[in-house]
Amino acid sequence: MRISVIGCGYLGAVHAACMAELGHDVIGVDVDQAKIDALSEGRAPFFEPGLPELLKTEHGRLRFTTDISEVSRARVHFVAVGTPQLEGSNAADMRFVDASIDALLPHIGPGHLVVGKSTVPVGTAARLAEKVEATGAELAWNPEFLREGFAVSDTLTPDRLVYGVRRGDDRASDVLDEVYRRPLSTGTPRIVTDYATAELVKVSANAFLATKISFINAMAEIAEVTGADVTTLADAIGHDVRIGRRFLNAGVGFGGGCLPKDLRAFQARAEELGVGHALAFLDDVDQVNLRRRRRVVELVAEELSSELSGAVVAVLGLAFKPDSDDVRDSPALDIASQLALRGVTVQATDPEAIPTAQARVPALDYRVNTKAAVDGADILILLTEWREFRELDPAEVATWTTARTIIDGRNCLDASEWRAHGWTYRGLGR
Ligand code: UGA
Repeated sequence: MRISVIGCGYLGAVHAACMAELGHDVIGVDVDQAKIDALSEGRAPFFEPGLPELLKTEHGRLRFTTDISEVSRARVHFVAVGTPQLEGSNAADMRFVDASIDALLPHIGPGHLVVGKSTVPVGTAARLAEKVEATGAELAWNPEFLREGFAVSDTLTPDRLVYGVRRGDDRASDVLDEVYRRPLSTGTPRIVTDYATAELVKVSANAFLATKISFINAMAEIAEVTGADVTTLADAIGHDVRIGRRFLNAGVGFGGGCLPKDLRAFQARAEELGVGHALAFLDDVDQVNLRRRRRVVELVAEELSSELSGAVVAVLGLAFKPDSDDVRDSPALDIASQLALRGVTVQATDPEAIPTAQARVPALDYRVNTKAAVDGADILILLTEWREFRELDPAEVATWTTARTIIDGRNCLDASEWRAHGWTYRGLGR
């Protein structure tokens, strides 16, 4: 099929490459010339495992351009632009979605299907459908559930496909079935529903995941005043299949370009709809999450038992999670910034996210690797559980630094092993 993908960020670039991998003829469009140049040369503009390989192998069926008029050859148009948090508000900034639809309108007509992938406030698809249908084209909303770091496999083998269509619009779902023929042939569940349900599936899934993480982080707060161990608690409750162990890792909490802003935009939309009370608990979910970041700053102060100002802290990890260079609303970068604001010299390192972090927070002392980051530090804090940090050898690290205290913000190290090598180990909720 001939497909266009509008927006070539973390979502769109992966979607475009995966659609080509599924056998389609794809044109990716973005207003950012540098991004388009990189993608056209087969280079990924951000770190995502598996994407560079796809960009190279799919070169023949996959093109990128800044010229929106090139989409007219395609019949299916995916809108995959960002919906960040609006400055000074909790609501989603819809300007990129609106601009993309407006830019598409002159190039679509009968026989075209526009497919929204962006995460949007419920009611958006119904609003945009009027404009799209005025050209004779149709609109569907097909939310994306990919996780950064696993984006390629999540797109090629999704755990479910959700199509939000106009009631009774069989053509739109037939077209999407054709697009996703390969994953459907392996039994991927497919749910066809109305626009509002499809939009809500996406935001409620992210709200649920955020709630699960904040639940365990709230238990970490209780564990801290009772001497309990939140990791053992998570293991024990996780054996109940109704609860499940995944997304019960206590630590510095959730960040990224999705969970935090989706949580807030969902509340803002509920308030607009007059049912803000239904989601009032999500404010607590947000607050628990932010408190964990402050807790790490307190722990550093406690462990140093002196003024924070003038201290040297080694920060291991800047990305919001491992296998990503994304630092949007990253707990790690937030904690590093809070420490720097309090006069700490922050020697920060990350396997992939130094350039993205540096662009946002230039004031940190960025170091090329762990050895350089811990050199001369008073204390170490691990904030993103990259494999190379999880596998650090406490004996070896001790030869790189005179510091003997580590705060494990992801509860990912073996506490007894670090203690056995003479380290003071502090986890969160342990
Ligand atoms: C999230 C959802 O998991 C995807 O399903 C969704 O498609 C995506 O948002 C989106 O809306 O686009 P992502 O932001 O890539 O995916 O990251 P997650 O794996 O969900 O992790 C989010 C944050 O929660 C990270 O900062 C991670 O470190 C943290 N986390 C995760 C925890 O603190 N504890 C856990 O147990 C799990």
